[in-house]
Amino acid sequence: METELDRTLNQIRTTLSHRQSPQESPETDSKDSDVCPDCQGTTWILDKKTNSVTPCKCRDKTIMDRRLRFAALPEAFREMDLKTFRTDIYQIPESRDKIKGACQVIKTYLDNFSQMQGRGIGLYMWSNAKGSGKTRMAASIANYLMREKGVQVKFSTSLNIIQEIKNTWDDKEKKSESRLLDALSTAEVLIIDDFGMEQLTAWINSKFFQVLNERYINNRVTILTSNIPFENLEYDDRITDRIGEKMLKIAFPEESIRKIISKNNNAQMLGMLAKQ
Ligand SMILES: Nc1ncnc2c1ncn2[C@@H]1O[C@H](COP(=O)(O)OP(=O)(O)OP(=O)(O)O)[C@@H](O)[C@H]1O
Ligand SMILES: [Mg+2]
Ligand SMILES: [Zn+2]
Repeated sequence: METELDRTLNQIRTTLSHRQSPQESPETDSKDSDVCPDCQGTTWILDKKTNSVTPCKCRDKTIMDRRLRFAALPEAFREMDLKTFRTDIYQIPESRDKIKGACQVIKTYLDNFSQMQGRGIGLYMWSNAKGSGKTRMAASIANYLMREKGVQVKFSTSLNIIQEIKNTWDDKEKKSESRLLDALSTAEVLIIDDFGMEQLTAWINSKFFQVLNERYINNRVTILTSNIPFENLEYDDRITDRIGEKMLKIAFPEESIRKIISKNNNAQMLGMLAKQ
């Protein structure tokens, strides 16, 4: 009879012999640049004498590295975290109130993440203003979920997704398009930055909503940032209404931190020049 140990060993052997598995996931993705010499990247050590397995010392780090790579967070966003997200940087009093409220909601959401995840509750962070901190917040949430909660996150922008869909058009059988849509539909947490961009063709729009709908049905968490209020998303109301039920809509301040930062940088440079 197959014992628990046999099953584990079989699993490891299968992993070892299918190291080039095309199915991308943080546990099996094997594109490590320097594979651990002790376990060859399996993260388990097999003791042939005692026929037992123990976790390799690289296991936690290897899994985290794979998780981070799978998330595809752009380099510049990898270090962003919630602690360095400032509420005092906004200059309009109303903006400060708004961002404090937003941070409070986000904190409560993250503190209760497992319940939220159980119900498939996501976030829709928006402001008409550009540069108000939406992407920074989304990236900080991604880092928090991966590092503190061990959640598998996939980060993408609308433009990325559209480009990737277009790249797959060369594939005659359209297999790669559905693989991409599958990956987006099944990621544990999906973050789409700059959602609902204008001037999308109806066809592309329908692909996005196909993904959102699939995630909605399966109670998977989706986090979106956007420059338009949820109600103004141009898509079939019956679908947006349903998806909207499971999204906490968080308004960001109508103020550009990007402009404040560039003004400060300018002033700093002028100050340096004046001293010369
Ligand atoms: N609360 C904040 N604390 C510190 N830096 C911030 C904060 N909000 C924004 N920034 C910085 O301001 C710049 C613009 O922020 P971000 O890209 O997140 O804005 P956005 O709302 O996503 O803009 P867009 O609508 O153009 O996508 C970035 O450099 C970001 O790091
Ligand atoms: Mg942005
Ligand atoms: Zn190892």
